[in-house]
Amino acid sequence: MKIAHLSDLHLLDLTGVSPLRFLNKRISGYFNLRIRRKHIHRVDYVRAMGKQLDRLDIDHVIITGDITNMALESEFAFARDVIANELELTPERLTIVPGNHDAYTRGAYKKGRFAAYFSEYLRSDLPELSIKLPMGPFPVVKLRGAVAIVGLSTAVPQMPFIAAGELGHLQVTALEKVVMHPEVKRRTLVLALHHPVEAPPSSLKAWLEGLRDRDALLSALAMQPHALVLHGHLHRRISRPLDRRFAHLGATSASLHHADGARHSAFNVYTFDDEGKFVDQWSEVLEEDQKTYRREAVPESTWA
Ligand SMILES: [Fe+2]
Repeated sequence: MKIAHLSDLHLLDLTGVSPLRFLNKRISGYFNLRIRRKHIHRVDYVRAMGKQLDRLDIDHVIITGDITNMALESEFAFARDVIANELELTPERLTIVPGNHDAYTRGAYKKGRFAAYFSEYLRSDLPELSIKLPMGPFPVVKLRGAVAIVGLSTAVPQMPFIAAGELGHLQVTALEKVVMHPEVKRRTLVLALHHPVEAPPSSLKAWLEGLRDRDALLSALAMQPHALVLHGHLHRRISRPLDRRFAHLGATSASLHHADGARHSAFNVYTFDDEGKFVDQWSEVLEEDQKTYRREAVPESTWA
């Protein structure tokens, strides 16, 4: 079984958006997009990925959040169109979780915009164990062959310049039940969330960008012998063990144009044998021709 891991699509579409919509937290996001021109997010890079997913015969795709930039309806509609119609990813083949940008404003969060646009993708195979969050029903479980993919939402609205995430007590409690469920227990657990679970390099970084309740998540996984824990958020390909028992892997931004090869547009691939044993991991990195890909190891690194 081959799983592809994409992240941080950051698809931008401001078609028909009134300037009044920027008179809130989005004002900083808007200038951020304008100023950081070097690190452009390109939808063509995401489209190129669709072709490579087909060439590699990928069984399942996981997208770990930040689908949009400012959680506008136009961005969600565009992102949904790219995902469903251009990448042709069906709910059967895709697990998607939100990132902090998908809960960019309190309004987008309260209105459940992410959940509305991706409702059919958020259908869980163990719906009785999901709780209703503004971002959708989570945890979302997809039982696929010998693998159990469990998507979590860490997206909560924050003050400007804060990108931290939080699962919340209810979701952590629900996850405890999910990992104990026999259908999950007999499979290899693949956890997908936007924020890294690794301890951030400083307490300031933890407060600004980290997963606030990472300790609670690790406690919920206390009895878990092994798992893959997949995240985005850092816009960098990264691999390191977590708590000695888990492989902790980050995908870079799928749309990012960047001079640093560990950050430039890429996705990760993970393979499993028929018993669910984790066999291999690598990154597919977009070449300069913007069509072909080179295979590279996922760089071993830490958040620092
Ligand atoms: Fe993020």
